[in-house]
Amino acid sequence: MTSAIQIIYASQSGRNQAIAGHLQAQLASKVQTVVTEISQADAFALSENDAVIVVTYTYHDGDLPDEAQDFFEDLKEVDLARTKFAVLGSSSKKHIHFGRAVDYLTMQLNSSNGEQVADSVKIDQDPDDADWQRVDQLAQRVLTSLA
Ligand SMILES: Cc1cc2nc3c(=O)[nH]c(=O)nc-3n(C[C@H](O)[C@H](O)[C@H](O)COP(=O)(O)O)c2cc1C
Repeated sequence: MTSAIQIIYASQSGRNQAIAGHLQAQLASKVQTVVTEISQADAFALSENDAVIVVTYTYHDGDLPDEAQDFFEDLKEVDLARTKFAVLGSSSKKHIHFGRAVDYLTMQLNSSNGEQVADSVKIDQDPDDADWQRVDQLAQRVLTSLA
């Protein structure tokens, strides 16, 4: 059976949506991919995927985006049964608590019994070439974990 990866993103001004689109472009020739905006994502169905990649910005004072809150709360009730996952996101070093939503989601997905297969990646605003390399590396780690 072909593996399936769900890419879930939160994005207000488009950066993280673009990263999610880039990930899909990287992965789609190798695995089935589906991209879901985070307010539409069903935490209780995550373990139906072989892997999940969450892409998020950070908002307020180092907090999750508002539209990610329900997903995050639901995750606390979920047993991911070792579903593989990775987390990344563009946020901004101009704010305190740089990229803390990436940390929160990484911790919660681990607590929910997911299997983290790549180090989380934080990007300062628009990704530069080195950032895209880190994004591609993360995608490669997820793919390798499914082999
Ligand atoms: C009101 C506001 C609050 C923010 N707070 C934080 C923050 O606490 N920490 C952080 O790292 N970035 C923060 N950011 C920066 C965003 O996470 C960053 O601009 C990100 O690239 C936006 O991604 P998007 O284009 O996908 O919406 C904040 C941005 C805004 C507009």
